[in-house]
Amino acid sequence: HTPSLPDIHDFLVSLAFQAGDIISNALPDTSGTGLKKNSADLVTEYDRAVENMISTSLKERYPDYEFHGEETYDPARPLTDAPTFVVDPIDGTVNFVHSFPYACVSLGFAVGRIPTVGVVYNPSTQTLYSAIRGQGAFLNRKTPLPLKGGNTEPLTGLDNALIAVEWGSDRSGKNWDTKIRTFEKLGKSKENGGAMVRSMRSMGSAALNLCAVADGTLDLYWEGGCWAWDVCAGWVILTEAGGIMADGTPGEWEPRLDGRKYLAVRGAPNGSGQRELVEEFWSHVQGELEY
Ligand code: IPD
Repeated sequence: HTPSLPDIHDFLVSLAFQAGDIISNALPDTSGTGLKKNSADLVTEYDRAVENMISTSLKERYPDYEFHGEETYDPARPLTDAPTFVVDPIDGTVNFVHSFPYACVSLGFAVGRIPTVGVVYNPSTQTLYSAIRGQGAFLNRKTPLPLKGGNTEPLTGLDNALIAVEWGSDRSGKNWDTKIRTFEKLGKSKENGGAMVRSMRSMGSAALNLCAVADGTLDLYWEGGCWAWDVCAGWVILTEAGGIMADGTPGEWEPRLDGRKYLAVRGAPNGSGQRELVEEFWSHVQGELEY
């Protein structure tokens, strides 16, 4: 029989807590062991151990579903339309290695490439975000998102917005130039042709950035270069909380799960100001992101 979405949600929550225990008890080292492509792109034994635990458990319980995970990704087997678990065992590995408390396990489930179930757990703060498509998003399984204390008023422009952007791990080439020139334009005063965003954060976890946009503590998040496993779970949480996901590239309202370029905007009454904020942001993007 076909497993129900609540069954999948609850199983992912239990895996997130198990993963959280491994992450909380870990003693990572910052010395540069486990570099992937450079000193900003890390993998630890814990990323591999957590992914192995999660994929083994998922294959046992849901043998018919595909698995797409960061540490076992094979470019020869891209994401398909089949029901697929899309998993990042530790999103924010640099933070994890430095014990900066902004890392999480990100467990998504996509059907027809549509993010359908999302569970994101930060063990440092014991914060669980989760959502099922069409059934709302919640903090710690009880409190509906966006949070009442978060910003739920209409969006009125980048000059009133707290936004997240990320450096990513590519530190040269055209994409890097595009990001840095965009960051400069976003921050600069309006008299000098900038957007004068209220402020920008680079906290180092795509999944937690999406959850912060979902709960209303951030207004917007833009990134190029991250992967489906970084965003699948957070995407469901975001949209179930009333937020919208556009493409990081100007003009693209229909982002792809594996498109590697994303622009998330928080919920607002009747979506008030959401599309305008996306368009305002796009007008400041300084070039093409080529992923
Ligand atoms: C990274 C984080 C980071 C983002 C990178 C991702 P990882 O994921 O989400 O915020 O800027 O693009 O790769 O490598 O820590 O799982």
